[in-house]
Amino acid sequence: MKKLLYSLLLAFIASAAIAQNNPNLALTPPMGWNSWNIFQVNIDEPLLKKMVDSYVSSGMRDAGYTYFVLDDGWMSMERDKDGQLVADPKKFPNGMKEFADYVHSKGMKFGIYNCAGTKTCAGYPGTRGHEYEDARLYASWGVDYLKFDWCYAEGENAKEAYATMSKALKATGRPIVFSLCEWGTHRPWLWAKEDGQLWRTTGDIGPYFDKSLTKNGWTPLSVLNILDRQDSIRQYAGPGHWNDPDMLEVGNGMAVNEDRAHFSLWCMLAAPLMAGNDLGKMSDQTKDILTNKDVIAIDQDPLGVEAFRYYSFDGIEIWVRPLVNGDLAVCFLNRSTRSQTISYDWAAHLIDDTTSKTKVDFTQSNYKLRDLWSKKDLGTTQKTLKQVIPSYDVLMLRLVKQ
Ligand code: GLA
Repeated sequence: MKKLLYSLLLAFIASAAIAQNNPNLALTPPMGWNSWNIFQVNIDEPLLKKMVDSYVSSGMRDAGYTYFVLDDGWMSMERDKDGQLVADPKKFPNGMKEFADYVHSKGMKFGIYNCAGTKTCAGYPGTRGHEYEDARLYASWGVDYLKFDWCYAEGENAKEAYATMSKALKATGRPIVFSLCEWGTHRPWLWAKEDGQLWRTTGDIGPYFDKSLTKNGWTPLSVLNILDRQDSIRQYAGPGHWNDPDMLEVGNGMAVNEDRAHFSLWCMLAAPLMAGNDLGKMSDQTKDILTNKDVIAIDQDPLGVEAFRYYSFDGIEIWVRPLVNGDLAVCFLNRSTRSQTISYDWAAHLIDDTTSKTKVDFTQSNYKLRDLWSKKDLGTTQKTLKQVIPSYDVLMLRLVKQ
């Protein structure tokens, strides 16, 4: 009897350990590139190898981007006779292992996509009922990151479906970042920390800043739509477990100021930074935005506290993010359609963030202001800040404690 109880206890401890998220896999938000936003299912080995090469030559890898993720469309339409997924032989004539090796040989990590339902959103074979064999296959290819979607999942319980895949990944013994993509429908911020390292908080983003356009009967979310859904869930993110407001649309057709504002805001939100543009055809402006090390350092701040909307007046919003060593990131966003001149008296506004327990009284402490886009010093918080902010643009500052 004693022996039986002891074995039961051991089994319980083992299963609890397997179910647990690996907290060290993403201590800061994952950074990488994903094929969906620009190419959708139109991906193949020659195109993607070009992307891998451009990832390196453009300086993205050296700026901290690590993952190279294939989204939907990499598979054959059917599993093979043994029930295994197969990389589409026309798109990947050398197989997926060879492609993963190529990514690894360039110093990046490799990610792939599938879905908790019976099919992926684009109609390829889903994972439902094949969790353990798919996880083993990915591990055998050297997959380091799995994005797991939520189409064709009727009748499934989201929490259980994602827990099953999480356990299957864990059981492979290979550290694999698990990116949950159920669009925030079942409020994953309340439970997904146990399963993975990041979870989508909304439906899909499109390359629109303010209002988005409807195409083929479908309207993606704009940058501002998504931004407005993040503030209330910021307390659920932190090192090892991140809210994911979806991949970047920088370089996919918005104006340069809108791209800059989008990137700045995502960094304020401690968002995973998954670039989604054609890396082979990047303009210098796009490259400068995506590789701005000072702005990326805000995203990657080890404290892992998400920004909050601190103040809002006349179309200007102020977002504040507490950083390590008592520094702060402050982002003034002009949401209005006209250019505005701000005149901001730091001493007149106390910062009191109960979530991160940060209190700042600028009459008592002084900070140096660094403009992270113009790379200029703008004095200190002892003086009123006067700046012009064009429409749909930001002024992004690092406040360095003196
Ligand atoms: C869903 C996801 C997207 C993308 C597509 C692929 O819409 O939210 O990010 O992965 O599926 O079909």
